[in-house]
Amino acid sequence: MAIERTFAIIKPDAVEKNLAGAILAHIEKAGFAIKGSKRVHLTLAQAQGFYAEHSARGFFGELCTFMSRGPVFVLALESENAILKWRETMGATDPAQAADGTIRKLFGASKGETATHGSDSPGAAARELSYFFAAYELL
Ligand code: RTP
Ligand code: MG
Repeated sequence: MAIERTFAIIKPDAVEKNLAGAILAHIEKAGFAIKGSKRVHLTLAQAQGFYAEHSARGFFGELCTFMSRGPVFVLALESENAILKWRETMGATDPAQAADGTIRKLFGASKGETATHGSDSPGAAARELSYFFAAYELL
């Protein structure tokens, strides 16, 4: 296995509830190194651009309104096998289906308000990291 980087977001629902610190602690305990982090408030257009792959889905409007309603923390996470490992650490999209101990089980509110985002492939991780971070921010 190789050292990888993946891209994560602590979403507005979690930030609103002051859960960002608890989620960062969970991330560190799980063994990720936080190689980049910043707090940003997405515009609607930035959220639409980020989730463009979902533009044909019925929940797209709701998703982009949600993602732009308050600040988020965007993160670059590094570990062995980081992409898959972060997806496993988050758990299933629907918090009700997520395994015990996962971030979405612990902190997710609903199928739409899922506390965190994680890249789902190496291509997505590269695209998403560069959507939010300049190369010099991740040296
Ligand atoms: P993410 O991309 O944010 O890591 O989430 P995911 O891969 O687990 O799930 P995905 O299918 O990519 O969905 C992206 C986000 O859209 C919202 N969603 N709402 N109302 C709904 O039925 C619904 N389904 C998905 C969630 O915020 C989900 O994380
Ligand atoms: Mg996804």
